[in-house]
Amino acid sequence: NTKVWKVDKYVDNLESNPHVVDAAHLIRENEVVALPTETVYGLGGNAESDAAVAKIFAAKGRPGDNPLIIHIAEKVQLNRFVTEIPAKAEVLMDKFWPGPLTIIFNKKDGVLSEKATAGLSTVAVRMPDHPVALALLKKCGLPVAAPSANSSGKPSPTKAEHVIDDLNGKIAGVLDGGSTGVGVESTVVDCTEEIPVILRPGGVTKEQLEVVIGYVGVDPALTDDEARPKAPGMKYRHYAPNAPLFMVSGTSRFLQHLVEEKQQEGLRVGVLTTEEQVEAYQADLVLACGRRAELESVAAALYETLRRFNQENVDIIFSEMFPGTGVGHAIMNRLQKAAGNRMISEKAPTPEM
Ligand code: TXA
Ligand code: MG
Repeated sequence: NTKVWKVDKYVDNLESNPHVVDAAHLIRENEVVALPTETVYGLGGNAESDAAVAKIFAAKGRPGDNPLIIHIAEKVQLNRFVTEIPAKAEVLMDKFWPGPLTIIFNKKDGVLSEKATAGLSTVAVRMPDHPVALALLKKCGLPVAAPSANSSGKPSPTKAEHVIDDLNGKIAGVLDGGSTGVGVESTVVDCTEEIPVILRPGGVTKEQLEVVIGYVGVDPALTDDEARPKAPGMKYRHYAPNAPLFMVSGTSRFLQHLVEEKQQEGLRVGVLTTEEQVEAYQADLVLACGRRAELESVAAALYETLRRFNQENVDIIFSEMFPGTGVGHAIMNRLQKAAGNRMISEKAPTPEM
């Protein structure tokens, strides 16, 4: 069975915490361990070892063409495996590292496992803003490849319990640092071209990036179903609860009407809403995902809410929409993926559900 090592993230000198030391030792031996970050839990392994990286892909059931993010504790580690650091990337690192921003660089060959980067000529790197993650990274002294620590396709884990639900028996251990903060993954920004481009919206918003480096593009595939995403992972259906999820554009009355229609067909219906609106619905399971007035709280609660629908065995889920600005961009991106892009609009109800 997978070991759960509880670590209080607020104590000093985490690098000598016995659990952190054990986990670092396991990583040096090319085993894999789950670790808390400020976004979601990651499944970490030695990024320079094919054997370790193969274990990560196997535990998650992740397709081999989807590259991993390399986690570091110090900027100097970059020199080992990237060819150059563009000026805008330098500015972004100074401003947002450690933090929920992943930067794509051109890669030096022959250092990292080719499996970790899925054979690409580029590499995704971030410095997580979590004391336990940073202590582990410093202690093991290696670049650590770490995708989110969920089974491929499932919502990402924001608590150690979620990691255990998905990966128990498949990994050596999980450092339990409590709930992660941000709740959605890091923003992935490609800095290999003159104009940086967001490949995955996340914890750092487009607006925040543009304050420091000016105009930032967005991968057209994020809005156009037909375009091929530049981040290979964005082409997969993700974050999906077991029951089909539909995004609903319209009033709460319209959404409640959909609920009743489905209940009349004998289905158990779930509703994803926020604290402001819970009273507006009567369904088999109404879950408040944070507070709409504070989108950060919606992001923080999103994946746990999606996981709770699974535990309660609903047959169909209707979700409210969120504004696409700020961290709402990441929230809507994840919900739309979870919904497989199914949307029902009050103005033009679709018949195909
Ligand atoms: O917040 C996060 O980023 C979390 C925590 C654990 O750090 N990690 C995470 O990793 O979300 P993962 O593997 O679930 O997602 C990595 C994303 C995928 O969409 C992948 O395709 C993309 O980053 N990616 C990785 N390397 C890339 C590259 N060289 N070029 C383009 N996209 C890349
Ligand atoms: Mg993931």
